[in-house]
Amino acid sequence: MMERNIKRVVLIGAGAVGSSYAFALLNQSITEELVIIDANEDKAMGDAMDLNHGKVFAPNPTKTWYGSYEDCKDAAIVCICAGANQKPGETRLDLVEKNLKIFKSIVDEVMASGFDGIFLVATNPVDILTYATWKYSGLPKERVIGSGTILDSARFRFLLGDYFDVAPANVHAHIIGEHGDTELPVWSQADIGGVPIHTLIKRHEHYRMEDLDELFVNVRDAAYHIIDKKGATYYGIAMGLARITKAILTNENSILTVSTYLEGQYGEEDVYIGVPAVVNRNGIRDIVELTLSEKEQEQFTHSAGVLRKILAPHFI
Ligand code: LAC
Repeated sequence: MMERNIKRVVLIGAGAVGSSYAFALLNQSITEELVIIDANEDKAMGDAMDLNHGKVFAPNPTKTWYGSYEDCKDAAIVCICAGANQKPGETRLDLVEKNLKIFKSIVDEVMASGFDGIFLVATNPVDILTYATWKYSGLPKERVIGSGTILDSARFRFLLGDYFDVAPANVHAHIIGEHGDTELPVWSQADIGGVPIHTLIKRHEHYRMEDLDELFVNVRDAAYHIIDKKGATYYGIAMGLARITKAILTNENSILTVSTYLEGQYGEEDVYIGVPAVVNRNGIRDIVELTLSEKEQEQFTHSAGVLRKILAPHFI
């Protein structure tokens, strides 16, 4: 991967998620350059204009413009938010066929520019489309990352923080697996300020595992509830994408639950799936292998199997 002096991000897809991601990048001054591409040129141009007019209010200015695939050549990151999104009653996996076609065309165009950076995939089903991006691009697996369960883990930490009345920053808990209905909470490794949640439940009778099981269901089904209320989700995922982007551009070596390629870790291989991973300027540096309980391992194996079954007709 060529070292890049300029921190350029190219956003492909200026829909609700993409626009919110662009807004987050500018408000947090995460990148030096932002290029916006969309099949609807007016939308991309309008977003670039609108964001530039707010530039003076941001901590540092981000050079933002409506661009073309040629701009991917010098990009550190290409983030793909384009594609069809869930409608009420649809699962994320229902979107596979239509979004695979869209992705093949996008990735081919990006690679034709000479792009040699990192793909960040947001479109659902994100684990499937991240695998597809890796296959279509031919880039090393560590340089193709999906948002994975970063938002699910954030929802989990938010709700646990609310339940235990502590800041989410002090909740260490992961959701792993498919970003979807088969995801699972790693209760065995969850703690509040270093105290295992199982210990807190034993110590204080007002904390109940039944409450926490219901809390997890609310995490897993959060998108369905939000979609029912407002038609789509976009702020949470956009902030998660901005978080991953920052970890890459500032070479953080932060541990984030993103969709990454397994080669035997967690007993699985040849699948992109949400697990904790160390993220830096080269993409995925390492996969963090949590010690799962027997039940958690079974759930994870099931989740990986669901993803591989979807992939099989297209790639294996
Ligand atoms: C959600 C979308 C990003 O979980 O899948 O809100």
